[in-house]
Parts: sequence; C-alpha cells; structure tokens
Amino acid sequence: MKYVRLGASGLEVSRICLGMMSFGEPERGMTPWSLPEDEAMPLIRKALEAGVTFLDTANVYSAGSSEEITGRAVREFTARDDVVLATKVHGRMRPGPNGGGLSRVAILRELEASLRRLQVDHVDLYQIHRWDPATPIEETLEALDSAVRSGKVRYLGASSMWAWQFSKALYTAGEHGWHRFVSMQDHYNLLNREEEREMLPLCADRGVGVIPWSPLARGRLTRDWDEATARSGTDDFGRRLYDERSDRAVVERVGEVARERGVPRARVALAWLLAKPVVTAPIVGVTKAGHLDDAVAAVDLHLTDEEIARLEEPYTPHAVVGF
Ligand SMILES: NC(=O)c1ccc[n+]([C@@H]2O[C@H](COP(=O)([O-])OP(=O)(O)OC[C@H]3O[C@@H](n4cnc5c(N)ncnc54)[C@H](OP(=O)(O)O)[C@@H]3O)[C@@H](O)[C@H]2O)c1
Repeated sequence: MKYVRLGASGLEVSRICLGMMSFGEPERGMTPWSLPEDEAMPLIRKALEAGVTFLDTANVYSAGSSEEITGRAVREFTARDDVVLATKVHGRMRPGPNGGGLSRVAILRELEASLRRLQVDHVDLYQIHRWDPATPIEETLEALDSAVRSGKVRYLGASSMWAWQFSKALYTAGEHGWHRFVSMQDHYNLLNREEEREMLPLCADRGVGVIPWSPLARGRLTRDWDEATARSGTDDFGRRLYDERSDRAVVERVGEVARERGVPRARVALAWLLAKPVVTAPIVGVTKAGHLDDAVAAVDLHLTDEEIARLEEPYTPHAVVGF
C-alpha cells in the first residue's frame, strides 16, 4: 500500500479508502445489499492487513449500523491511531424538525451519535454529505469549526455539491478564520467525468484532496454491461446514475484494455483514477475478498498515456447526477 497526504493537509491516508457503505445490517436503512457483521468483519480485517488505513462511513449508512460495525472492527483488528476514520452528516436520522441537514443542532447531535456508534472520542475526517440549502453556510461552518476546536473532529471534508457552493464554503471559512474543508468526496469515475469541468480544477487550485465515491460505477466498470449481481438487482440509487446508451461503450473499452493487460477490469478502472494527480484515494466498495485484492493491486498498475486516452475516448457529456 502507498500513503499520501490528503490534499494540502498533513493527514496521511492510504491510496485506497475502504467504503464502509458495503457493511451494515441489511434490514436497517436503504441498502438491502449491504453485508451483515459476520460477513463484513473478515473483509475489513483483510483490508487492514493489506495496509488500508482510511475508512469512510456515514451516519445514514444502514441507519447507523455501518458505523457500529466500523467501530467494532477497529477495536478488534487494529489500534485507533492506526486508522483514519471518516464519517458524514446531513442525511435524515430521525423524523420531524432538525432530524437531518446541517443546522448547528443537527451537526452537534449527529457528531455525538456517530462517536457513540464508532466507540471513539474523535473522528479524523468529518464530512458534510451534501449541501443544505435551508441552513446558512455560516451556521454550518461555525458549527463544524467548533467541533474541531472541541477535539471531537480532526479535519473537515465535504461531499457532492456544485462547485460554486464548495467555493463559497471555502472562502467563507477563510474570511472567518474557521477550519476549512480539506477534502471533496464526489462522484467521479470513467462513466461520469462531469467533475472535470469545475470541481476538480477548483480542488487542485485550493489544495483539496479528492476522494471519489463509486469509483467503479457501483460495479458497472468491473463486468459486462448485461451481467447482474446480488447488489445490482437492489441498488436503486445505482440504477439512476448510469445509462446504457452512453455508458456501454466505455464499459467495453475498459474490458478491452483489461484483456490486453491480462488484469481484471476493476484494476484498470481504479488505476485510471489513481493516475489523476488531483485524486488522493478512490473510496472502493468491496463485497468479496477478491475485490480487495484488485483494489490493492491497482495502486501499482500504471497505465500508459495511450491507454488512458483510449479509456477516455468513448465518453460523452452526461447530466450531473447523484446530488
Ligand atoms: N458521498 C456520497 O454521496 C457517496 C455515495 C456513494 C458511495 N459513497 C462511498 O463510496 C464507497 C464506495 O461506493 P460504491 O460501493 O458504490 O463503490 P464502487 O467501488 O464503485 O462499487 C462497488 C461495487 O463494485 C463491485 N466491485 C468492487 N470491486 C470489484 C472487483 N474487483 N471485481 C468485480 N466487482 C467489483 C462490487 O459489486 P457487487 O457487490 O455487485 O459484486 C461492489 O459492491 C461507499 O462505501 C461509501 O463509503 C459515498
């Protein structure tokens, strides 16, 4: 495994981040395909043994169950200081007023709840899962800054939003002397490259580390377009993100390059992301042990400029989706 700084921050992270949305009791929350604890634990252990130190979860994943499993795995298999724990806030966790969003009341309550589920006294990266149009960004940023000052959060991150919103948040934090976001977790993979227009240049310019979500297009980039898996059948969000008309050609191109290289497609799709200087660490979802082997091996797979150009060639402009 290789380790790099998260953007311009001093935080060292592994080049592969483990997506903990794959893990959670299936009957809780919105991901019926997620793996229950007994199936999740061996995979998390294997990731840690392979040198993956960066774990990304969220309060909403499996309604808190993902954080609970993450917390137990860290206690069982490693030491708290040997991992970088990232979680998120914004999604609705309770019915009624203040049950979600980025108000001061929601952020501070949800942070406490995440710490309890993770069984830790601080998280390393606390991310806003989306933009909250109903709360002034000053209120959100001040609450996040106070969370850092309280010692319960080490660094702040953000996730999918418009580039103008992220830019506003970065500059507003600067104006007030508040801790600013050091990372952007956004939707970026060979099937959707819209972030290359505005968000990624902004991140490069501001020294923000980029940690793409669904780097394998939720499995689409790892197999033939028509092949189904247990997850693909129940992944409602994933079905909304990709479209056969525009995306099948890219999937086929990944297949070609992988065949020529003699490696699984997942390695090629991840190596493509890892070749982008702005990308710190793709957040990979794994549901089988072999998925981890591919993610780890991708770190050492260096694509040629010609291969990268061929992978990118069939792309056509897409609608921005996922937030
Ligand atoms: N911030 C956000 O809004 C947001 C949104 C989505 C995700 N995330 C984060 O990103 C993480 C990853 O998301 P994701 O699971 O959608 O990412 P992904 O890595 O694009 O997709 C993971 C899926 O790809 C397939 N796969 C992975 N490695 C493979 C391999 N080597 N060979 C064959 N198939 C392979 C598996 O599908 P099968 O299980 O079908 O075999 C796996 O479930 C999440 O856990 C979460 O932490 C964040």
